[in-house]
Formats: sequence, structure tokens, C-alpha cells
Amino acid sequence: MKKRVAILISGGGSNMEALVRDMDESHPAEPVLVLANNPNAGGLAKAEARGIPTACIDHRLYKGDRPAFEAALHSALEKAAPDIICLAGFMRILTPAFTSRWQGKMLNIHPSILPLFRGLHTHQRALEAGMAVHGCTVHEVTGELDGGPILGQAVIGVRAGDTPDDLAARILPMEHRLYPAVLKRFALGERGKLAHLGG
Ligand code: GAR
Repeated sequence: MKKRVAILISGGGSNMEALVRDMDESHPAEPVLVLANNPNAGGLAKAEARGIPTACIDHRLYKGDRPAFEAALHSALEKAAPDIICLAGFMRILTPAFTSRWQGKMLNIHPSILPLFRGLHTHQRALEAGMAVHGCTVHEVTGELDGGPILGQAVIGVRAGDTPDDLAARILPMEHRLYPAVLKRFALGERGKLAHLGG
């Protein structure tokens, strides 16, 4: 039986598309839900165009009440009964009360070589730190922000004159290769670390 995958997004959903593209007939997993916290997330239309069920839990309707937002999220996810949840550019912080309910089943992609540069503005911060390398990480989600066991990393070199946008433009295609590769292994029960070294 294929593993059921729910993908959580907030924006354009290019990582979601990369994951979905990879889940062909021979893949051990299948997408069963794409869920956004923002009705304007461009990825929702892309998922619909691919015939994947979508949902939106608009966090703005739960302003000041994170437990209610997370309860709605949890119930939408439970309906889809996923074996694996992929956070793919999902830009809401999830509390330990929520993550503990899905621990061991939830993955995230983060645009830095964790544990460096948790949180936001990772490309800017990597430049400010004078890094010679930068990259992205897929990890299991725990109650700790951008913490949790590392499952795979992709690394690029930082070039003289690089801007945050330059780094983002070179790392995003690495994300699109790394995340599907990690998800496939995860769906097969493999937990070893994957390393992709880029340019
Ligand atoms: C990606 O670069 C992803 O790593 C990052 O947001 C972007 C989403 O792009 N995620 C985070 O910063 C999470 N903290 P996408 O919507 O095109 O996949």
C-alpha cells in the first residue's frame, strides 16, 4: 500500500510540485492533500490542476488563537489520514502540542545548512556570517523550531558578490532535488542521511 502524503504550503508551492511530480505510479507514496494557511497561496491552484484534493485553513481567521488554528489544521489533516506530512514552504510556526501529535511522520525543508540559521532570512544571514557554503536541509519536525533529526542536506558554494536572491535562485533547484529524494527514502522506511553537493 502506498504511503499517503499531505503537503502543507504557504506560497508558490514549487517544492510541493517537485514532490508531487516525483510521486509517479512506481513511487511508494501518493499525494492525498495539499493544504495552505493562506487562500492566496499560488500552490493551491497548481495542486488543483493536478487533481490533488486541496484545503485552506486561513490562519488570519484565528488571529490570537493559535490552539484553535492548530485544532482546525489537525482536523483537516486527520480527515486525509496521511502517513507522512511534508511542510513545503509552510511559514507558520507549529507548537509542540501540534507537532507531538505527528512526530515521526512530519518532514520540513529549510533553506540553510541546519543547525545554522534557523528561522527566517537565511540567505541574508549566511552572507552576513561570511559563509563559504550554504544550502538546504530536510529534517524531521519536532517541537523545536527547525530542529529535529536531519535526513538530508544539499550544499552550494557562496560566490563573491552573491546576493540573497542569488543564493535563493541556486538553492531552490537543489531543494527540488533533495526533498523528493528524501521523501522517497522516508516512505520506504530509510532514515539514513542523504548529502547532495552542488555548485
Ligand atoms: C523554500 O525555499 C523553502 O525552503 C522555504 O520557503 C521556500 C518555499 O518555496 N521554507 C522556509 O523558509 C521554511 N522556514 P516554494 O513555496 O516555492 O516551495
